[in-house]
Amino acid sequence: MARYLITSALPYINGIKHLGNLVGSQLPADLIARYHRARGHEVLFLCATDEHGTPAELAAAKAGQRVDVYCEEMHDVQARIARGFGLSFDHFGRSSSRQNRDLTQHFAGVLAKNGLIEEVSEKQVYSLDDGRFLPDRYIEGTCPNCGYDKARGDQCENCTKQLDPTDLIDPRSAISGSTRLEVRETKHLYLRQSTLRGELSDWIASKTDWPILTTSIAKKWLNDGDGLQDRGITRDLNWGVPVKKGTEDWPGMEGKVFYVWFDAPIEYIACAAEWAVANGKTDADWERWWRTDKGAGDVTYLQFMGKDNVPFHTLSFPATIMGSGEPWKTVDYIKSFNYLNYDGGQFSTSQGRGIFMDQALSILPSDYWRWWLLSHAPESSDSEFTWENFQGSVNKDLADVLGNLVSRVTKFCRSKFGEVVPEGGTLGEREAQLVADLNARLRSYEANLQAMEVRKTATDLRALWVLGNEYLQSAAPWTAFKTDPEGAAAMVRLALNLIRFYAVISAPFIPDAADRMLEAMGTTDRSWPEDVASALGVLPAGHAFTVPDVLFAKISDEDRADWQTRFAGIRP
Ligand code: 2FM
Ligand code: ZN
Repeated sequence: MARYLITSALPYINGIKHLGNLVGSQLPADLIARYHRARGHEVLFLCATDEHGTPAELAAAKAGQRVDVYCEEMHDVQARIARGFGLSFDHFGRSSSRQNRDLTQHFAGVLAKNGLIEEVSEKQVYSLDDGRFLPDRYIEGTCPNCGYDKARGDQCENCTKQLDPTDLIDPRSAISGSTRLEVRETKHLYLRQSTLRGELSDWIASKTDWPILTTSIAKKWLNDGDGLQDRGITRDLNWGVPVKKGTEDWPGMEGKVFYVWFDAPIEYIACAAEWAVANGKTDADWERWWRTDKGAGDVTYLQFMGKDNVPFHTLSFPATIMGSGEPWKTVDYIKSFNYLNYDGGQFSTSQGRGIFMDQALSILPSDYWRWWLLSHAPESSDSEFTWENFQGSVNKDLADVLGNLVSRVTKFCRSKFGEVVPEGGTLGEREAQLVADLNARLRSYEANLQAMEVRKTATDLRALWVLGNEYLQSAAPWTAFKTDPEGAAAMVRLALNLIRFYAVISAPFIPDAADRMLEAMGTTDRSWPEDVASALGVLPAGHAFTVPDVLFAKISDEDRADWQTRFAGIRP
């Protein structure tokens, strides 16, 4: 039994995620976690909300809530929606947890001890009326480039020019509107990751099996970007992990917190510790996933994320781990994704454009979305969601191919033989050919799942469903029944077993439909079909089943047009 540690990029706390976020990290991670569990491997699948930083503070302010209260509520909202999508996390944690605070402070302490942290004095805008330093985006003023009067200190939204707060004309605090601002000296910690360039470069070079998307971004930042410049890891904010050196105070760092991108990936580790506490386990139980000196030597660690997250996972977080000099597990494979676009434009959280996870679930069950999103995952390039394409895939793959097979076989059997797997008859050439074809495709499906080639796995699964349909089409038990009822009975017995077989192998993609198929087949046998011929004999003659309700309803043109209009606008 192999052991897989699987993490999905941690969604920011500030709002409900859209389908583009989902397909770029959590959903493919869930597919692979479900697959490895189905193969009998030990899996720890973790995700959490990323709760610190200015985005959280701003979102809470907009909602008129205290930031800790906002985060708690929004965490529950995201957890509920994740369950709605069937995301099978072993734990859905919070980067604001005690475990993450302790571990983040621990890493800062050992990095300092190893000489990898430098204290730097810099100038920053201080607001006298707010009594705090202002992050760049908390300062507003008039853009020197275009004259827009609500430009932010980091960038003008109107003309997109990157700005420094001191460039703004008539600057004011975005919190209070106060203009009593002054530039003050403040001290920050910098992680000297440039000193780890050699080690990081060797490590990335050793990852010859990583997707090109991942390594190309990593190498670009490593070699010709600013990616390995020493990086400020503290901020003058109230909300975050307080700056400490392990458990000791850090003189001069009072009132400061760690930068959100410093503590967020450490939550991958802390989340395992949270999982242990939530499940009555010990430290040893989570450390065997994360500490190579405590049993994690045989763990395979897979990370899933959108391409914008790659630099942080290939350079910054590994720099934290390597710089600690402690035996933490490093990632074995980083699966990254391009972007999913929405109907001729981009999905956008800030602009409320696209379909958000809660909206998707309000119109259709999660399996419809899971199937479309995974079968169109933006792997080799960006891909696009259109309502026509969605309707076409659902109606063809799910309703016409898989759903139709289940309905036709169970209804035919019920009408001719009753709701039991029929006896009699032997299987012939055609059935032997089906088994051979299924076997070949299944091995390809397994290989592609192992390699995390998401779109290819969907192609294989669709082809497996089609093989069953073609078999029924040509065997035509409904015709055979008239002259050879025994032969027809054998075909139907095989076809009922095919439904169980499909339920088991399709479960990583469409878990709810798979459950319903197994329930209808009156079985809890989820054993993976190591051998196709014997898998198609699991349900014996005489075994009772029921005819399930429609597995997948077709999407009508009216519904499609209605949704297209409903989701064309901007979410308030
Ligand atoms: O881009 C994002 O949505 C970040 N919240 C991802 C963080 S991943 C990890 F490092 F925590
Ligand atoms: Zn401007």
